[in-house]
Amino acid sequence: PYLGEKRETDGRPRVVAHRGASALQPEHTLAAYTTAFDLGVDGIECDVRLTADHHLVCVHDRRADRTSNGKGVISTLELARLEELDWASWKALDDGTDPEEADSDPGRGRILTLRRLLDSLTSQRQELLTLIETKHPTRYGGLVERQLVTALRDFGLTSGDLPQMPHARVMSFSLLALVRMRGLAPRVPLVYLVEQSTPRLSWDGSLPAGVDIVGLDMRIVRRTPALVRAHQRRGHEVYVWTVNDPEDVERCADLGVDVIISDRPRDVMALLD
Ligand code: G3P
Ligand code: CA
Repeated sequence: PYLGEKRETDGRPRVVAHRGASALQPEHTLAAYTTAFDLGVDGIECDVRLTADHHLVCVHDRRADRTSNGKGVISTLELARLEELDWASWKALDDGTDPEEADSDPGRGRILTLRRLLDSLTSQRQELLTLIETKHPTRYGGLVERQLVTALRDFGLTSGDLPQMPHARVMSFSLLALVRMRGLAPRVPLVYLVEQSTPRLSWDGSLPAGVDIVGLDMRIVRRTPALVRAHQRRGHEVYVWTVNDPEDVERCADLGVDVIISDRPRDVMALLD
């Protein structure tokens, strides 16, 4: 069981590290998440994709090309192949880490599976909001959601009503993915991700049945702050992504959003303190 303590935020928005502390470390690597934990973030965000042999791995893009030294579509590659690739060296370090020290860590460039992330997360001493986004899950007939629920259950993260547990939330741009999750894990809170191109985007703050958290694109919040208020009036929690600009941090704080998702959690926390 998880025995961490809840971090007090004194009413300020909670700060979530987007793809880990991804401005400082290669996104979605274990180093990105351990750096985020060390910074004292309130939570982490990660994207999950299915490999050809049905493992969930933490990768944003459809292809391996941008964030590894390999090529190919993730869903067509087996985990063993992804383990052979280097997922760190594409990004230069800008956090002052000695590159030689970073290079001497043999696990640094390893692909991160969801299970390895959850293992690291549940060994932390503080309670962390855990936001897991399913990417393009509609193609696999519910397999992404089934694998995700199995992993959450194995790590004790599906009982959202137990106060000591880290708070897992599943997020998606796909309504179908959220409906499937609701059926499989009724107690895991769901976040409906909304961007300008969301079909039938509602401007009155309504959300699909069974969902009471909205994840808003910062660009929408800039243009239409009234949408934040509309959700708040309906009692929804409001998460905003991806908030890196100091002016946007201030806007979010003024609007009283619940969660700021940022590549630069260190800077955001400094601004909010
Ligand atoms: O937190 C939601 C946000 O991550 C959605 O956009 O493209 O960064 O996954 P993306
Ligand atoms: Ca994401």
